[in-house]
Amino acid sequence: MATELNRFSKTLTQEVTNPAAQAMLYGIGLKEADMEKPQIGIASTGYEGNTCNMHLNGLSVYVKQGVQANNDMIGLIFNTIGVSDGMTNGNDGMRYSLPSRDIIADSIETVVAAQWYDGVIAVVGCDKNMPGAIMAMARLDRPAIMVYGGTIRSGHYKGQKLDIVSAFEALGKKFANNISDEDYKGVIQNAIPGQGACGGMYTANTMAASIEAMGLSLPFSSSYPATHAGKQEECKKIGVAMKRLLELNLTPRDIITKESLENALTVVMALGGSTNAALHFLAIARAADLPLTLDDIQEISNRVPFIADLKPSGKYYMEDILEIGGVPAVMKYLYSKGLIHGECLTVTGRTLAEDLAEAPDLNFETQKIIFPLESPIKSSGHIQVLYGNLAPQGSVAKITGKEGLTFDGEAKICEHESEIITMLSQGEIKEGHVVVIRNAGPKGGPGMSEMLKPTSAVMGAGLGDKIALITDGRFSGGTHGFVVGHITPEAFDGGPIALVKDGDRITIDANTRQLIVHISDEEMAARKAAWVQPEPKFTKGMLGRYIRTVKSASEGCVTDEA
Ligand code: FES
Repeated sequence: MATELNRFSKTLTQEVTNPAAQAMLYGIGLKEADMEKPQIGIASTGYEGNTCNMHLNGLSVYVKQGVQANNDMIGLIFNTIGVSDGMTNGNDGMRYSLPSRDIIADSIETVVAAQWYDGVIAVVGCDKNMPGAIMAMARLDRPAIMVYGGTIRSGHYKGQKLDIVSAFEALGKKFANNISDEDYKGVIQNAIPGQGACGGMYTANTMAASIEAMGLSLPFSSSYPATHAGKQEECKKIGVAMKRLLELNLTPRDIITKESLENALTVVMALGGSTNAALHFLAIARAADLPLTLDDIQEISNRVPFIADLKPSGKYYMEDILEIGGVPAVMKYLYSKGLIHGECLTVTGRTLAEDLAEAPDLNFETQKIIFPLESPIKSSGHIQVLYGNLAPQGSVAKITGKEGLTFDGEAKICEHESEIITMLSQGEIKEGHVVVIRNAGPKGGPGMSEMLKPTSAVMGAGLGDKIALITDGRFSGGTHGFVVGHITPEAFDGGPIALVKDGDRITIDANTRQLIVHISDEEMAARKAAWVQPEPKFTKGMLGRYIRTVKSASEGCVTDEA
């Protein structure tokens, strides 16, 4: 597919030979002098229904102004979809969240290739629309830049800073009778003060920071909050950057390399980013035809310490990062310590090292968000890839070290994530349990739902450091606690997670990177022989198609491969 599309890449101008196309371009208001100008597609995931995306159509207008102002280019805005993870978490709508990533990739690829745009700028702001946009850019391989919509400001209630996770954890407190009705309402009404993506180092900010590190957005794109004046400035100067990419014929596959993927994942580890980054960078690498495996991610985790005191496990928000020099300052520090490949190219048309030379320095005397590498929060990355007889093809754990490095306990099975809420409210989940939430994988869910509601409810119930939670689903970037997700093969495919029973002993060991259920091979084989594959929950529609096409979590859940 990429070869086919690449025929059209690296062209400075579009030769319009179709008279209907020319007529339509005149019809939308272009003049004869415009016909030879490069056309830049501006893909917006803006929509009114949630705070991460509500302002993106407005930012796209600034981007268009930037593209057209004195740059001899035409900017053409189009829209694609978005799904809010925050709003779909804990309900069946979440089934559509991860699939939305691939729909976004497909739709941007479709419009840009069909309309033969010379370049594309994606204005995106939530968990799935960033990796979706980057996957499309990698497939298209035409000059491309991502503009992040920006992080949200924190909310406030009774002197406490709040964000989206505060709302979920308030629910957990409600179940445990740890919050009054008035305070519950106060948290819900004040947690989200306006536009911007969820404010901790959750999936959106993780992807924004790591994509900037990979070189596909301008410096500081991930650091400016949505309401900061710098965000509008970034949009307005994007045209100059796009013009330079066109002149240099610098395309995404010049920028997305094995080394720049390593830079991205290095920033994920250093900042304590979301486990979803593992899933998305596997998919981005596949879109760019680059080899990247779970083992490569583990190798980066082995050598990059976790150094950021950011939520969900820490104290600070993404808005605080700008005050200490932004993500460029963090990258400059990592580069100075030999953890970043400086020779990688970025959308500035320069090397990352050249970009970082202009970044501010971190001041370890005054700022307390980023720890020195010599005294990190954890000496290796928090994302750990575990194997074992419960995850023969891998799983992804989030282990910051604050919860300890091993957990040994008794299995408590939830066939659906909603069961954990009932179990918690009835006191059935107790200290020492390893809660197994299965049938939540890419095919079985379908859609590999996030478990933010269960993990937040566990936190709210005061069991965060007393139980572990494992699943063939995935976790929100907002999740913290002792959690293992992405278990592969998933239950729907008859993976060992489908065969675990209540009371089985399970060991999670981040030292040996193992996920083990303590039953014999003979017992496992007997259970497998008795196992019957469930009927797919959907056979038609988007979810039916997703079940038939999606690859495993260890393969990035891509949907465009045979
Ligand atoms: Fe969009 Fe959290 S729901 S970033």
